[in-house]
Amino acid sequence: MNTGKINTTVLCISLAFLSCANRKLQRDEYTTALDYCVAQATKTATGITGNNRIPRSIANGKTGWRTVDYRDWTSGFWPGVEWYVYEYSKDDNWKARADITSRLLTPLVDSSPIDHDLGFMLYCSFGNGYRLTNNSDYKRILLRAADSLATLFNPKVGTILSWPRPVPGVDWPLRHNTIMDNMINLELLFWASKNGGSKKLYDMAVSHATTTMNNHFRPDNTSYHVVVYDTATGKKVKGITHQGYSDNSMWARGQSWAIYGFTMCYRESKNQEFLDFAQKITDVYLKDLPADLIPYWDFNAPDIPNAPRDASAACVVASALLELSTFVQDKAKANMYRTKARQMLQSLSSPAYQSGSVNNAFLLHSTGHKPAGSEINASIIYADYYYVEALLRAKKLKEGKSIYGKL
Ligand code: GLY
Repeated sequence: MNTGKINTTVLCISLAFLSCANRKLQRDEYTTALDYCVAQATKTATGITGNNRIPRSIANGKTGWRTVDYRDWTSGFWPGVEWYVYEYSKDDNWKARADITSRLLTPLVDSSPIDHDLGFMLYCSFGNGYRLTNNSDYKRILLRAADSLATLFNPKVGTILSWPRPVPGVDWPLRHNTIMDNMINLELLFWASKNGGSKKLYDMAVSHATTTMNNHFRPDNTSYHVVVYDTATGKKVKGITHQGYSDNSMWARGQSWAIYGFTMCYRESKNQEFLDFAQKITDVYLKDLPADLIPYWDFNAPDIPNAPRDASAACVVASALLELSTFVQDKAKANMYRTKARQMLQSLSSPAYQSGSVNNAFLLHSTGHKPAGSEINASIIYADYYYVEALLRAKKLKEGKSIYGKL
């Protein structure tokens, strides 16, 4: 008998077994985390039934959700979570719940826009609902929301006015302001332009992203939270912060919105500049992360390593990196992004970050508005939304599916 051949055969069988076991392990880690999300969401849903309130955050050390009504900028995340839980569980009770909660937000399209957050509010809720059900009511609502958001566009500047109201440091109303978070709301405009809305919505989204790329970043690719423009001339006045540590610091969630936003803009426009730029702003974010890949709330917080973390930024980035990895041509770089996303999800899914029995949210340790002293080291609904989105994306990629379709 040829022992060399046997050894080779044994080696091949072992490698096949290990690769199979590894695949199973990877599939199981997402399934385990998604099952956990369903269990936690079930407890939240049971606790808020019937009162038309929407969960927003749970303060550090507390167990009850602080709830809001449909006008709060975070109102779309809980219905979005419900849609994702429906997508994963395929349980029609979740579909019915998600429909009811999403419809709480319908009055938003009947009044003038209170700010740019219409995209967060209506695309996370009705956008996911439409993706999963093709319900024509949802489509109508989304198209009206996009037209409403477009009324905030200033053609002189080339961006959407993020906050049409007085803001510290903005010298309202002479100054037009645009915040990094606004990048996420462009997805609604792109969607509408492809689904029966005006083609101008596409042009506005591309203009907003291009102007933001040119004005919102320092030479080292870190971002300002807010850029102030002269409303009449469209010229940039200054870059400042609102929720970060200082005007020149890198606020973690601001950079995460940028990474997610430019990746999405590349998906929608196929403009290579957006893809190249998404990688640059990702690379500066990945460079200075702590070992567990969950950022401090601001990369320049003076009290690092004792500064609070922001798990929500990690969730946004994990989800974005999974998408970015599907666009990057350089295989080694694409793999690096996907591996980082997986490691972020592993950290987030560990007892250090999952809420478990502490409260009914999915995750602990997010920071909302540190300078205002609000939602520090808390459970926040947008962390949960992007966490479950990233888990679903990771599971779809593992299963060789598109991240945009249904599971
Ligand atoms: N869009 C507000 C925030 O990220 O806190």
